[in-house]
Amino acid sequence: MQTLNDIRSTFLSYFDKQDHAVVPSSPLVPRNDPTLMFTAAGMVQFKNLFTGLETRDYKRAVTAQKCVRAGGKHNDLDNVGYTARHHTFFEMLGNFSFGDYFKEDAIPFAWDLLTKDFGIDANRLLVTVYHTDDEAVEIWKKHAGLSDDRIIRIATDDNFWSAGPTGPCGPCTEIFYDHGDHIWGGPPGSPEEDGDRFVEIWNLVFMQYEQFEDGSRRDLAAQSIDTGMGIERVAALLQGTNDNYATDLMRNLIEASADATSTDPDGAGKTHHRVIADHLRSTSFLMADGVMPSNDGRGYVLRRIMRRAMRHAHLLGAKDPLMHQLVPALVQQMGAAYPELGQAQAMIQQTLLHEETRFRQTLDRGLRLLDDELSRLPEDANLPGEAAFKLYDTYGFPLDLTQDALREKGRAVDIEGFDAAMAEQKTKARAAWSGSGEAADAAIWFDLADQHGATDFLGYDTEIAEGVVLAIIEDGAEIDALETAGGGAWVIFNQTPFYAESGGQAADHGYVRILEGTHEAYETRFSGHVSDVQKRGEGLFAHHLTVDTGALKVGDAVQLEVTHTRRTAIRANHSATHLLHEALRAALGDHVAQRGSLNAEDRLRFDFSHTRALSQDELMKVEADVNAYIRQNAPVETRIMTPDDARALGAQALFGEKYGDEVRVVSMGTQEGSGKGSEGNTYSLELCGGTHVRQTGDIGAFVTLGDSASSAGVRRIEALTGAAALSYLRAQDHRLAEVALDLKAQPADVPERVRSLMEERRNLSNEVAQLRRELAMSGGGGIAAPEAHQINGVAFMAQVLSGVTGKDLPALVDQFKDKIGSGAVLLIADADGKAAVAAGVTKDLVENLSAVDIVKAAVLELGGKGGGGRPDMAQGGAKDVQKADAAIAAAEAVLKG
Ligand code: ALA
Repeated sequence: MQTLNDIRSTFLSYFDKQDHAVVPSSPLVPRNDPTLMFTAAGMVQFKNLFTGLETRDYKRAVTAQKCVRAGGKHNDLDNVGYTARHHTFFEMLGNFSFGDYFKEDAIPFAWDLLTKDFGIDANRLLVTVYHTDDEAVEIWKKHAGLSDDRIIRIATDDNFWSAGPTGPCGPCTEIFYDHGDHIWGGPPGSPEEDGDRFVEIWNLVFMQYEQFEDGSRRDLAAQSIDTGMGIERVAALLQGTNDNYATDLMRNLIEASADATSTDPDGAGKTHHRVIADHLRSTSFLMADGVMPSNDGRGYVLRRIMRRAMRHAHLLGAKDPLMHQLVPALVQQMGAAYPELGQAQAMIQQTLLHEETRFRQTLDRGLRLLDDELSRLPEDANLPGEAAFKLYDTYGFPLDLTQDALREKGRAVDIEGFDAAMAEQKTKARAAWSGSGEAADAAIWFDLADQHGATDFLGYDTEIAEGVVLAIIEDGAEIDALETAGGGAWVIFNQTPFYAESGGQAADHGYVRILEGTHEAYETRFSGHVSDVQKRGEGLFAHHLTVDTGALKVGDAVQLEVTHTRRTAIRANHSATHLLHEALRAALGDHVAQRGSLNAEDRLRFDFSHTRALSQDELMKVEADVNAYIRQNAPVETRIMTPDDARALGAQALFGEKYGDEVRVVSMGTQEGSGKGSEGNTYSLELCGGTHVRQTGDIGAFVTLGDSASSAGVRRIEALTGAAALSYLRAQDHRLAEVALDLKAQPADVPERVRSLMEERRNLSNEVAQLRRELAMSGGGGIAAPEAHQINGVAFMAQVLSGVTGKDLPALVDQFKDKIGSGAVLLIADADGKAAVAAGVTKDLVENLSAVDIVKAAVLELGGKGGGGRPDMAQGGAKDVQKADAAIAAAEAVLKG
């Protein structure tokens, strides 16, 4: 038997041999097409290669592309499980030519692969062509020898394929397989074509036009090929069945579901197993590509699919959450072809487990409410919209889940009533909000959020994406176009890779562009730059956009590109902040809690509760720990869960912060010294909406700039990471080298040299002081004792000295006191214009005369204040030595009494 994995390999290697580049599947969230919710065809990633706007180093490519059809234009969700060929997830095999080969090669390639390599009976194949495409008819006849009755001309859009309302398009030819007359159905174009007998297996599109918004079309510069073959269909026919769910891969998943629930895979629960097998694939692959369950946009579609599967698990009678148990079976089947699945396995399992645990809590009650409502209604009546809305609003039942539950009972929902109930709730929310005192211009954002829904944020996974302009707001009012160069306005797009400032993380900057034409000759129709992004209204991302050239209109599809260097630096700082938080807790204790943070491009700042300054040792330990976890190079993982589950895991949450009913938990690192990889040993676990590095090693390096007080009981650490940390260290090193050069020492010897220089300096200044004193004492050229004169019967010596300092004065005063025997001494030193004052009174006189009074009187005269000491010796100082004579006179006045 050719397994599905064999078929994929055969396909890829067949075209590889025909010189096609084997290109990996692009992610399920298209980066380059704002009109698509999910990647739904192989050509999506090549859109700009067909129009010529982009070129790569290959002109032929082959892919096995992951596709999801569960939202937006292509939505197969409701039918999955009930039919043989509907899936939310499928793989499309395709070969592509970008201006290289065309029809005359594409048809033979396809025919030979099917009939030779796959060995399909040529007599069972028939084709359709676009009714005017005689060329294709001729090639089919010539190469495949098909008779006229097996080449069916179709005049409808069925044989004219386009990527969407705009973009590359062209006529196509489709290859059908006839499963035989034991199955009901007719060939394409016949009234019975919807039957299961004739199944389309491969679509070959001859890309030759580009469709524009205004309805016009141009010829593509180069004719190209885009083909798509659903691997599940071709696997079915090669495995002798017409049921995709009977193929080896799907059957394995169904059996895993049957095993885990101890039920019969083909019994009463057959449909449930099919739903589960299909939804296991779409939900797991979506999560592996970065979509997380949420209440908006893609995340909500993912949640709807999950809940649908979980309800079917419940219908199977599964006692415990089921979906996460099946992930290993999926990884076993598809992990080799899609390594991202295995890499995300733990995160997928945990997210499924949390979602299912949570959903089961309300599922029973919701289903009971549904039964109650139904029992009150007449037989066959539709469920009132209000009841469906209550299930949605209170129990988290997506509308399609309620519809799915009713479908089994042959009932439906009153959709108009549901919409009306939803609209009424919005009106109420708005009324409640309008009284909340927000700024007046906030009204416009509320309106826009109501009209367009929340902006889909793609920036966790990509820095480049396309988006559609939904609104332009200038001076608080909506405008249709923005065209003044230099003119700035706030712009919202349906989706964006730009992070809006929040949680301490700075906003992304970057570019918005519209390019037209081909790679060789393209024109920049519009270019502008984003310098700020803020969250507005409920879930809108407002981009502050300044025009550089051209004009931007509402409805334009644009390329959005985040400045990579800035984002990279911000990511590194944010992840380092998480490691720092944990390292601080380890070093200082569990009382450490985040009080504020800033993650900017050039640095990080972290405020935390702690009452005293960190010692040098503590700071070094924290820095060393953070760097050790950087070197651990552990993956940074993200999961969505309820706040309670997150707390139960030990995640750090912001104190006093209000969280919604689900939170994003970012984890990184494995506790050093614990068994690596074991659960519960995660180093850092925080609730966080920010963007992070993929591996801690991406942070590069971490250097603290020290710790300071931020406010009472709160310390602040500033730090640098990556290139900024390195250049900081480099600058420090440079300074050290300069000092070493001046000291004529090796950098390593600098501290010792500086210490010994300081010591030497201390010794020298002591020596100078000693010499001065000796000089002063030695007479002749030194400082001689002044003449004493009698005042009020007391011998008084007073002198102004230069060349001595205040420190020298007490020793001199003592010497002069000795000389005088009985009396008072006043010395004023002229120290570079400032005055130092000292006075002494011999012991026999201190009863009646205080040196302190003498000093105070002199200091006052010199323009100073105070002075003090003991009655026999006092000192003071003042700013101005000019008035020394007056100071001496004031001292004499003290003696006079
Ligand atoms: N792009 C074509 C399709 O999806 C092949 O059918």
